[in-house]
This record gives sequence, structure tokens and C-alpha cells, in this order.
Amino acid sequence: MLKKILTADNTETFLNEQVGESYHSQTGAVEEALKKYAIPCKIAEKAKSGKVVILDAFFGIGYNSAMAIDIALESNPDCEIEVVGLENDPEIVEKIKEMMPPISFYTHYKNKLTPSVLEFVEGNVRVKILLGDARETITSLGSDYFDAIFYDPFSPKTQPDMWTVEIFREVYRVLKKTGILATYSCARVVRENMSKANLFYDDGPIVGRRGPGTIATKWML
Ligand SMILES: C[S@@+](CC[C@H](N)C(=O)[O-])C[C@H]1O[C@@H](n2cnc3c(N)ncnc32)[C@H](O)[C@@H]1O
Repeated sequence: MLKKILTADNTETFLNEQVGESYHSQTGAVEEALKKYAIPCKIAEKAKSGKVVILDAFFGIGYNSAMAIDIALESNPDCEIEVVGLENDPEIVEKIKEMMPPISFYTHYKNKLTPSVLEFVEGNVRVKILLGDARETITSLGSDYFDAIFYDPFSPKTQPDMWTVEIFREVYRVLKKTGILATYSCARVVRENMSKANLFYDDGPIVGRRGPGTIATKWML
């Protein structure tokens, strides 16, 4: 069901044959973590403040948050970082130990995260995965809490339930006033549902050959 594949930046991801989608863009898995998530969410800039709190929504093998941790620590080695991951599939968490992306902090993901050990602290970095349906687990999170939300479910076509007004209302609730959400999708239904949940959106970066991603905030971009 999970088949390892090599993407165009020479980094590996998985293809979920049952879902018919891969966990990252085939134009570059690690490139996507950097250019579609860490950079548009301004992780390096936010790290200068001394603390960054990240919601890695749809954690998978965790490339997006692990990359953001590298970027934050490069910008400010003393930065306190908290990552909350939302994921419902223990099988993909089990696969973390097989991966070797060129992301320094990933060694800790590999060595410490398993389906039965879902949190660890390493220096100033705290990582915790909430295992379960994101539509439920997100409701347990505090309001106005996250500086950055990496929003990376399977596509709106495959998993429309992850892109509804209801879930974006929860996203709105947990995002800080100054926080930024990034996602790879630019689908009209996604942007309309974000708007209905009071989020403002704009084009995110174009990475690889596909259209732009989307960034969203609580303030007018
Ligand atoms: C596109 S992949 C995410 C890739 C991930 N960001 C990474 O860097 O590996 C989508 C993820 O959403 C998870 N997922 C699917 N339905 C979910 C749900 N209802 N709640 C939480 N996670 C879910 C899948 O198991 C999968 O790992």
C-alpha cells in the first residue's frame, strides 16, 4: 500500500497506492517542505522573536516541520520551538525511521518517533503528534496559539472532508493573529471555504510545475 518513490530533487517520499496520491510533490519532496511551507510561513523571521509554535497538520513522515525546525534554529539557535502534528495513520509514522532526507533535525524524528512514542523534547524543541482524525484532534488545541500552520492533507478531490468550512473555522480559531497558514492547493473550493471561515488568502509560491499554493491569515494580505 505504501510504496517508496524518488522525487525530482533526489529525496524520497511515499506513494499511497490505495489513495492514489503521494505524500509530497513529485517535483521535490524536501524542496516542497522548504519552499511551500517554511519560507511562506516566514519561519526564519518568526524564530528571531525567540519562540515559534507550528501546527504540522497532516504530519505524514514529518518533512515539513523537521525542515522548519532546521530553518528556525539556523536563524536563531536559542529559539524555543513547539511542533504539534496531526496524523491519523500509525503506519506512516512507523515509516519515519526508514527515511533519510537532508534535514538535520530529522535524525531526532527517526530516532524518537514511533506509533507508540509520539512525543519528545530535544534541547529547546518539543514535538508532539496527536494521533487521530484531525477534525477531532484540532478541537483540543488552544485558541490563538500557532505562529504557522502547514496544511497538507491529500487533495480536495480525494479528501474533501479535510478542506471544509468547518475545519477551516477550527484553523482560524487556533491560528495566532499574526500567524500564517500555507498549503499546496490553490483549488477554488479551498479558497472559498477559507473565506467563509473568515481567513484572508493569497497565492503562495509556485514550486515545481504546478500552480501556486495558497497562504492564509487572519488579517488582510
Ligand atoms: C499529503 S500527506 C502529508 C504529508 C506530510 N505533510 C509529510 O511531510 O510527510 C496527508 C497525510 O494526511 C493523513 N490523514 C489522512 N486523513 C487524515 C485525518 N482524517 N486526520 C489526520 N490525518 C489524516 C494521511 O495519513 C497522510 O499522512
